[in-house]
Amino acid sequence: MPGLLLGDEFPNFDADTTIGPIKFHDFLGSSWGILFSHPKDFTPVCTTELACACRVSEEFTKRGVKMIALSVDSVEDHHSWSKDVMGFNGSSEGSLPFPIIADDKRLLSVQLGMLDPDERDKDGMPLTARCVFVIGPDKRLKLSILYPATTGRNFDELLRVIDSLQLTAQKKVATPVDWKPGEKVMVIPSLSEAEAAALFPNGVTTTEVPSGKKYLRYTQL
Ligand code: BEZ
Repeated sequence: MPGLLLGDEFPNFDADTTIGPIKFHDFLGSSWGILFSHPKDFTPVCTTELACACRVSEEFTKRGVKMIALSVDSVEDHHSWSKDVMGFNGSSEGSLPFPIIADDKRLLSVQLGMLDPDERDKDGMPLTARCVFVIGPDKRLKLSILYPATTGRNFDELLRVIDSLQLTAQKKVATPVDWKPGEKVMVIPSLSEAEAAALFPNGVTTTEVPSGKKYLRYTQL
């Protein structure tokens, strides 16, 4: 069953969080957003992920992206777990630089298709998978990633993806494998040669391939 699809408007849900109740679209304002879910508070992989998210939070801020986490426990548990997360980072600071949604009734996890049927807590209740949703300033879903509970995510990759999403939202380019900011980008296939020449003053280079088709077009922005 399809859940949220790319381009769908992200639900404007109400939630309790570690910064109080929010309405999601108001929380985002005109910013980009990243919502990332965690299976459970006080679990090892989640703690390493949240600690990393704290360490790189300024990189998200620089890109105009508001961060928000989610796990299926209460606000009270989140506050208590936050101290462990910050302690893991060697900090005595009690709170994280972004809120955590308390989805202890799993309403949002069900609505957003985040439950992992293979992972359950000691009472047999399903846990959330490691979902990532990136939401654009138009409140539409730009990217979703779904990892199982047993595999931690890579926040450098999330920043790289956001750099690509923000660039390709502005310019008629696509980013190739392992692209990093500053490297050459690819001209999108729907642009004619004449349109590409007009749009990219630094020129377009084409890599020859056996088919003779001229679709591997690069430009330096
Ligand atoms: C963890 O965060 O370490 C974890 C949570 C649920 C299942 C497996 C690992």
